[in-house]
Amino acid sequence: MSNSGEAELLHTFKGIPFTTRSSPELLKSLDSFDAREDDVLLVSYPKSGTHWLAGVITKLYNTQVTITSPIEFGDISQLEELNKLSSKRIIPTHLDYNMLPPNFKNKKCKMIYISRNPKDTAVSMFHYYRDNPNLPTVDTWTAFLDLFLKGNVVCGSWFDHFLSWEEHEDEKNILFLFYEDMKKDLPKVVKEITLFLSLNVSDNDIQDICEKSSFSEMKNDTEKENSDPTHTVCALTSNRKLIFRKGAVGDWKNYFTPKQNIRFQEIFDEKMKLSKM
Ligand code: A3P
Repeated sequence: MSNSGEAELLHTFKGIPFTTRSSPELLKSLDSFDAREDDVLLVSYPKSGTHWLAGVITKLYNTQVTITSPIEFGDISQLEELNKLSSKRIIPTHLDYNMLPPNFKNKKCKMIYISRNPKDTAVSMFHYYRDNPNLPTVDTWTAFLDLFLKGNVVCGSWFDHFLSWEEHEDEKNILFLFYEDMKKDLPKVVKEITLFLSLNVSDNDIQDICEKSSFSEMKNDTEKENSDPTHTVCALTSNRKLIFRKGAVGDWKNYFTPKQNIRFQEIFDEKMKLSKM
């Protein structure tokens, strides 16, 4: 990563790297954000399937809902915009649990945390870094993996993010999902989401929603809508082609050398020793 690129595009807040699209003023103001009891949060570490989950969830409602841009993106006016929204808000965020506005916790808002094999997440993020001019330049996969393992990437360490949320896994207002389970049996996961959100959706409708949420369908839709930057939960790019890359489980095997895999596993085992995963 070039130092000048890093200096221009990233800054650190409470020890976590953010892009300059998340203004320090906004990040400082998050603590006083006024949540609503019916807000739903979509929480993820980047590249874990956030757009996929958002695509599914919007289709489950038959009332008007708005998927906002991530709460931590933008300048201070973002919070006013959110306050002005009259419809139900589905709010994506990549925030660590400890940085989440306390009001969401106090009001017991429903939160869905989606996670993905960190090796696939790293590969997906490598491509995102490489192809997105709003992120620092990375020269090689090896260089990127090193940054990822040190938590020196946007949103910080995958391990810290996951662990901060996993600690709250048993709270009734938090649903933990895995990308790999969605790949394996999407209707089953969607059913689980409907129960969690207390939505009455028939099995036929669930089936239909799953078909419309396949990787190929969502990628095609994107190509049609590509010019509209508001159709994205990722404010780091208006180019949605960057989001729908491969949509596969296990792509990491095409990138990790045996030595990198051993190093990853050692760090994983150490960091995750208290995890239930
Ligand atoms: P890949 O880069 O491995 O293809 P996010 O939305 O959190 O940024 O995550 C993006 C990742 O989710 C990308 O992974 C993308 O291809 C994958 N993805 C998006 N929609 C998907 C879908 N309908 N089915 C499977 N994977 C999907």
